[in-house]
Amino acid sequence: MATKITLNGESVTLEVADDTPLLWAIRDHAGLTGTKFGCGIGMCGACTVHINGRATRSCITPVSDVAGTSVTTIEGLGGEGAHPLQDAWVKAQAPQCGYCQSGQIMQAATLLQDFPNPTDEQINEVMSGNLCRCMAYVRIREAIHLASDAMGATASDAEEKADA
Ligand code: FES
Ligand code: FES
Repeated sequence: MATKITLNGESVTLEVADDTPLLWAIRDHAGLTGTKFGCGIGMCGACTVHINGRATRSCITPVSDVAGTSVTTIEGLGGEGAHPLQDAWVKAQAPQCGYCQSGQIMQAATLLQDFPNPTDEQINEVMSGNLCRCMAYVRIREAIHLASDAMGATASDAEEKADA
């Protein structure tokens, strides 16, 4: 059994059974351990990755379902450097134990695609399925606002340059 995907921009072949959860293919076969196992039943969000740019629970996604797709993990989110969310996470000191945080950031990236300037309510709603046992929710929300501001600044800088 072999499933070909693009993983963080590189073409890879995962030699695993078709029903292997993507989470374990990523961690055990591709060696990317930033994506975490929490509940294994799609309820906590610790295992969130992007499939074709959208947040998805990798623990309940069989690897055969993602053949030919582009999968991004926390290791590849920012491309060559840090994603603005990762910078904001550091600035806000969002993590406590840190275990849930890669899933939180991957979910937040999808949130900011849909709501570039999210309200607290939008953040609470979209992030409500990503659980944090350390209750770092307030700092997570603060980090999302910081990233939103930074990304807005980047976008308006680019627009100004384009207009100049
Ligand atoms: S480990 Fe996937 S949702 Fe909890
Ligand atoms: S920071 Fe510990 S579980 Fe979220």
